[in-house]
Amino acid sequence: MTAELSAHGLRVEFTTRTGRVARALDGVDLRVRSGEVVALVGESGSGKTTLARALIGLARPVAGEVRWNGSRLDRSARALKALRRQVQLVLQDPSGALNPRQTVYESVAEGLRVHRLVSGSDKTEAELVAAALASAGLRPPESLFLRYPHELSGGQRQRVLIAGALAVQPQLLIADEPVSSLDASIRGEILALLLRLREELGLGVLVVTHDLGLAWNIADRIAVMYLGRVVESGPTEEVLTAPQHPYTQALLSVVPEIEELEPVVLRGEIPDPTRIPAGCRFHPRCPALASGEAEEVAESCRTVPLSVLSGEPDGHRSACHLVSAREGAVPASSTETEEVAP
Ligand SMILES: Nc1ncnc2c1ncn2[C@@H]1O[C@H](COP(=O)(O)OP(=O)(O)OP(=O)(O)O)[C@@H](O)[C@H]1O
Ligand SMILES: [Mg+2]
Repeated sequence: MTAELSAHGLRVEFTTRTGRVARALDGVDLRVRSGEVVALVGESGSGKTTLARALIGLARPVAGEVRWNGSRLDRSARALKALRRQVQLVLQDPSGALNPRQTVYESVAEGLRVHRLVSGSDKTEAELVAAALASAGLRPPESLFLRYPHELSGGQRQRVLIAGALAVQPQLLIADEPVSSLDASIRGEILALLLRLREELGLGVLVVTHDLGLAWNIADRIAVMYLGRVVESGPTEEVLTAPQHPYTQALLSVVPEIEELEPVVLRGEIPDPTRIPAGCRFHPRCPALASGEAEEVAESCRTVPLSVLSGEPDGHRSACHLVSAREGAVPASSTETEEVAP
């Protein structure tokens, strides 16, 4: 059976110390199924980690919903419980994900114990831990049982984290920047491991990354986030060879592996999510608007908010007034009024 994790109009807010509301996610739609690799890309602060956390019920949405195999997490305790085991988050090792005082064995066995999986298996706990380590490419697994994180290389530690997730036999992995701290050669190995897990176990993988080159190498589909929204999504090859949104085009122009493009430097930084610009949220930094290329739609860019264009959920979609005007389509602007920063 195909497992499916999906977000629908998801909105997550934080209240800052000064009492302002930061809308870290502002109407996100996303879908990941078993057997597919989806990359979630975007600049720092675009909301990737918040989305990953909300997808597994760690950040509570103020609007919208998350569904696991069709059941809403906020309405079904059963769906939430199933998701807690079947969807595993793989964190980055330097984020302190591995307890320095725990052996590899203890780290990997933890999930088995939390979800009481040994009693339902004909294998012993040690056999299950060994199998998970082997699946994560750590062989011979027993040789690592009594090691501590500081006795391992960075690549081995990342594999132990993946083994901990695999031990509970999930259907989906969500990996937040799984390789950004690793050397280039080890990055390749970990990415190859994720692809092998998809092939061999039929796992679905949501890879969170700000690296478009990485997305190009491993993802079937890609979702590009900007300031709490998905602004472009679709099959990786289509999105990355024919990007529609000026934001995606700019991100791509500085990735040498993909295409020889004239680098586009984005003006300024991603705004603070307490001050989401009116109109298209990207318009203050939009190269197409700055160059005059989007002159015909400039008024809409400044005043009419956008959500992702309607169309096939798996198709190539983007939220841009210029793209809509060129295609002769009416943009699917948000029904809600967006707050303009005072
Ligand atoms: N607990 C929190 N309290 C207040 N604001 C938060 C909190 N967590 C995230 N944010 C804000 O939400 C926005 C999105 O943050 P998030 O960590 O999801 O971005 P990201 O895309 O994962 O960035 P990075 O690439 O740097 O990891 C940022 O502006 C961030 O400051
Ligand atoms: Mg992050």
